[in-house]
Amino acid sequence: MDQEAVPPHVLIFPLPLQGPVNSMLKLAELLCLSGLHITFLVTDHIHTRLVKYSNIQSRFNGYPGFRLETISDGLPEDHPRLELCLWKSNDVGLPIIYVRTISACCLWVFFCLPKLIESGEIPFTGNDLDTPIKSIPGMEGFFRRRDLPMFCRSGSLSDPNLNLYLPEATENSRAHGLIVNTFDDLEGPILAHIRAFCPNLYTIGPLHSHLKYKLPGQSLSSSNSLWKEDMSCITWLDSQPPKSVLYVSFGSLAVMTKEQYMEFWHGLVDSGSRFLWVIRPDSVTSDPMDIPSELSKGTKERGYIVQWAPQEEVLAHRAVGGFLTHSGWNSTLESVIEGVPMICWPYFLDQQVNSRYVGEVWKLGLDMKDTCDRVIIEKTVRELMEYRKDEFWKSADEMAKYAKQCLMEGGSSYGNLERLVNDIKAM
Ligand code: UDX
Repeated sequence: MDQEAVPPHVLIFPLPLQGPVNSMLKLAELLCLSGLHITFLVTDHIHTRLVKYSNIQSRFNGYPGFRLETISDGLPEDHPRLELCLWKSNDVGLPIIYVRTISACCLWVFFCLPKLIESGEIPFTGNDLDTPIKSIPGMEGFFRRRDLPMFCRSGSLSDPNLNLYLPEATENSRAHGLIVNTFDDLEGPILAHIRAFCPNLYTIGPLHSHLKYKLPGQSLSSSNSLWKEDMSCITWLDSQPPKSVLYVSFGSLAVMTKEQYMEFWHGLVDSGSRFLWVIRPDSVTSDPMDIPSELSKGTKERGYIVQWAPQEEVLAHRAVGGFLTHSGWNSTLESVIEGVPMICWPYFLDQQVNSRYVGEVWKLGLDMKDTCDRVIIEKTVRELMEYRKDEFWKSADEMAKYAKQCLMEGGSSYGNLERLVNDIKAM
């Protein structure tokens, strides 16, 4: 085959977590659709679960240029294979494009970590979490200590996470380009700050929804789930009134004590709202076997409990009227594009930043961070699902329109994806 006919080959290597794997597999499928050859590199653990619980094999059979490769879990960083993929590729002149599956607002906080240290705003000790943060351009006036990524509360400059994210600005500006899973109407002002560091920025989100526009016929079940989805919750939702159900899910990593679960249980039951609650078996820090029996079977008429749900399908369901979420970025984007208002109960990483933006900047819901009390949970659920539901539905509908428009021809994410493909082909 002559050289020109061989399409460019891209290696994609996601963080081995449900969120990043989900969004980057969607990116892989979009690049395959554009005729690029893709090698998708995952750890053995992720590979086993993807093959077992998702429809990845049937979905990618149609792309001759797609290969799913595995690398063993826990390789030391200096392992030749990992080095070749990650570090040495730069030495051999391969262009590197970073993909950030977190929000631009959190990425910008990471870029500003050196500033926060220089200004003495971190590390901080003591508990006054409402102290305003002043040295992040574009976040003055509303951003507090409690909205920083959880690792900033460690009170120590030797925190491993702080040191992991400290070089973000230099790392990303060194790369050939930076892909961020977001869209300009949502995070425009912050993206302008990031562009100063990384001019070659591709905002192509919401990634998970691009495919619905590129492959209109494709069923919603192009999920890249690492757990078995309990489809019975869709049948349960079918029998509920429109916008009457609060969907409750805290992503793939958050864990809670049994006491915390019971506070949420009582708050949800006392709120009088219907709820569909995802309780992953590995998400209770105490012995999962001693989860109170109520949590395993829900309440007869109003509450339904599953271990893992087809989340994109749930959020698109007419019966869902709100989303109690940990503010993981994929969940946030999936709620934004379906126009579902949120209650945010962030757990760690980027979630504190996302929840502040949802509540304070985008007005798409309520930020309930740093509390876990049944009375506050009940009050917040009533506020979102009853008292202020029209207000939140209005703002959520508006942002959902922008999210959909940007994916259509002429939209910002549509154009940036085209530019990304053309730039890769030109490399
Ligand atoms: C992690 C971090 O927690 C998150 O903050 C970061 O933004 C991405 O990496 P995760 O905790 O898994 O991600 O949360 P999130 O980003 O929301 O991703 C969860 C994914 O799992 C979503 O795509 C969601 O659709 C899916 N999901 C979740 C299901 O398919 N079923 C469920 O029951 C719950």
